[in-house]
Amino acid sequence: MAAPTGFLLAPKPLASLDEYIAIGGGKGLSRALTMTSADIIAEVKKAGLRGRGGAGFPTAIKWTTISHSSCPTRYMVCNAAEGEPGTFKDRTMIRRNPYQLIEGIQVAALAINAKKCFIGMKTSFEREYLRLSGAIEEMSARGLIHTPVQIVRGPEDYLLGEERALLEVIEGKEAMPREADNPPYQIGLFTRTMFDVYEPNPTDVNNAETLSNVGHILREGPEWFRSMGTADTPGTMVFTICGDVRTPGVYELPMGTPLRELVEVHGGGTRPGRKVKAIYSGVTNPVITADHLDTPLDFGSMRTIGAGLGSGGYIVYDDSTCMVRVAYRYAEFLWLESCGQCSSCKDGGHTATIHLRKLVEGSGNSVDLAAAIQAAVKAPSGTRCFLPSELANIVPSTADAYRDEFVGHFNRGCQGHAEITVPKIADYDESARNFIYTHGRTTP
Ligand SMILES: Cc1cc2nc3c(=O)[nH]c(=O)nc-3n(C[C@H](O)[C@H](O)[C@H](O)COP(=O)(O)O)c2cc1C
Ligand code: SF4
Repeated sequence: MAAPTGFLLAPKPLASLDEYIAIGGGKGLSRALTMTSADIIAEVKKAGLRGRGGAGFPTAIKWTTISHSSCPTRYMVCNAAEGEPGTFKDRTMIRRNPYQLIEGIQVAALAINAKKCFIGMKTSFEREYLRLSGAIEEMSARGLIHTPVQIVRGPEDYLLGEERALLEVIEGKEAMPREADNPPYQIGLFTRTMFDVYEPNPTDVNNAETLSNVGHILREGPEWFRSMGTADTPGTMVFTICGDVRTPGVYELPMGTPLRELVEVHGGGTRPGRKVKAIYSGVTNPVITADHLDTPLDFGSMRTIGAGLGSGGYIVYDDSTCMVRVAYRYAEFLWLESCGQCSSCKDGGHTATIHLRKLVEGSGNSVDLAAAIQAAVKAPSGTRCFLPSELANIVPSTADAYRDEFVGHFNRGCQGHAEITVPKIADYDESARNFIYTHGRTTP
């Protein structure tokens, strides 16, 4: 099976802009500067680039909508908040090559005629902040920054990466998703009414990996991009694999690579004597059971098995894991990270958590399981953002796939299984192939 290949993950960190230029960096931007906005967008559309932040939304649709807006003030936002548990791809890319991200941001700004660009990231991402601010300085000195870029450092909250919360933080407010019927690419940053005229300031929010692809597409062309990956999802993805595998790490692979290859070849498989039991893509999508290991890693294929590609961060659990504990801890994480602006989200997370905890502790029965599932399913009604849908994805799918195990917990609790924590990745020691986790918030 193939070794990790690609173009987004430089084999070792680039030390300077000169090194980036020596491998063709900057050519995509030079080309974009000679093109119209419509032609840049047409190239990205032909390439079939889909967002790498979780939903796989076609990038060209956002850009086209913004470019057709009658509002002259537009903004470009790069989402580098990377808060999804089990994911460390954006930070790895930025550590190795911050220039490609800045180049992509500059091309995107040209495509939508943005007035200003922002990069949103967590305050704790110190190494990434230094890499990006250094790259911006070097590129400015060489005349490669045409639209100003500001880095905004926000709180540790999972919600910082939710696009409407990120806009709030850029405006100096808390990481709480704003209420809006329209997406940011229609109603964006710093909106106001001046002399009875409403200024919606459409704003493009794209994930850091999505944007890192853009300079390469402009330089090499859409056919080159489509020569990798699948018709559904062209290109590569930078995957993170962690949990119960022997070689956790970050690997760039063509879209369409079987999940099995990521887990067994790059991730090294489970420890001797153990088998894969369950896999989650972050805490966002329904569980993937071991019988789906041959599913290709692209948005469409993952949908066909009822799961999702997410942001390409896969958490593996082996057959020593208690799945009731997994459901409990994931529900608890989503409950505690919910900002509480929508009652069904906060209450649903809380209710699911307390009933699942009863099952783990031994005082729960079928009534608690039903209550947990119902609370999770109902959590997303009338809510502002996708967070409660994640609860509705995780809890029922896990209870359904491991039903006998849940039933076995009725009035008995968990019999000697290890505690589960939600693997938020704080750092990655590449030489030791070791992730450093800061586990999600938990209740006592
Ligand atoms: C709770 C929550 C957390 C999110 N966190 C991130 C994140 O850390 N990084 C990211 O790029 N997208 C995140 N997203 C998705 C963003 O809202 C948005 O869809 C994405 O940045 C769009 O970029 P793309 O089209 O390039 O994928 C999150 C969504 C939710 C609901
Ligand atoms: S759905 Fe949940 S996390 Fe999202 S805004 Fe409402 S309460 Fe906050």
